[in-house]
Amino acid sequence: MTSPCPLPAARLADGNDRGVDDALFARIATDLVDKGFSIRPGALPTALAAELHDYACSLSPRAFRRAGVGRGNDHTLNTVVRSDDICWISGEDAPCAAWLRWCGELQRFLNRQLFLGLFSLESHFAHYAPGDFYRRHYDAFRGDASRVLSIVLYLNRAWTSHDGGELVLYGDQGDRTGTRVLPLLGTLVVFMSEDFPHEVLPARRDRYSIAGWFRRNTSLTSRVDPPR
Ligand code: OGA
Ligand code: MN
Repeated sequence: MTSPCPLPAARLADGNDRGVDDALFARIATDLVDKGFSIRPGALPTALAAELHDYACSLSPRAFRRAGVGRGNDHTLNTVVRSDDICWISGEDAPCAAWLRWCGELQRFLNRQLFLGLFSLESHFAHYAPGDFYRRHYDAFRGDASRVLSIVLYLNRAWTSHDGGELVLYGDQGDRTGTRVLPLLGTLVVFMSEDFPHEVLPARRDRYSIAGWFRRNTSLTSRVDPPR
């Protein structure tokens, strides 16, 4: 499961030796400006997506815990809202470190291009067993500015709509149709956390993904500008 050496950085056609594809990052930035979200099949370097797939599938069930809803003291287990299991990513193992590096490059790119002020990332693997779901929700609420940008990476080979487990990303509160995304290996979804309700339909197969949130540095802003 742990690999002693870092992933070789893939040299991409229009990328560079860090395995980073600036043209892809530019397309994500344009999507965010135009629509507030970006859905990009095959976004991750194939080798990295495959390593993360193998890593997620090799994690023992004990590495996962039942996901909750809310943060800190508000954190509660709410199996009516969601029933998946999660495993937070610390970056100790090579595939996770490579994932965090790749996200760091995306963060730097988006900060340079869009001045989003992204400061840090928290991310976890999620496992949805058959029947598991995550009902319609927002990742952040207006006024709670800490989660700025949500990022989801899918880690499932050969997924079809018969397997359920699609992400449905709704344009706004009134949208009941949404855009469906198959959780296929390498597909990346990025969206502004406050703006898009979304849900995970019940999966019919084991479904693996990584969900993450880029945050602003709210502790700093609260110190500089204390509440009145
Ligand atoms: C989440 C989430 C979506 C997915 O974890 O907050 O919305 O498709 N995940 O896994
Ligand atoms: Mn979510």
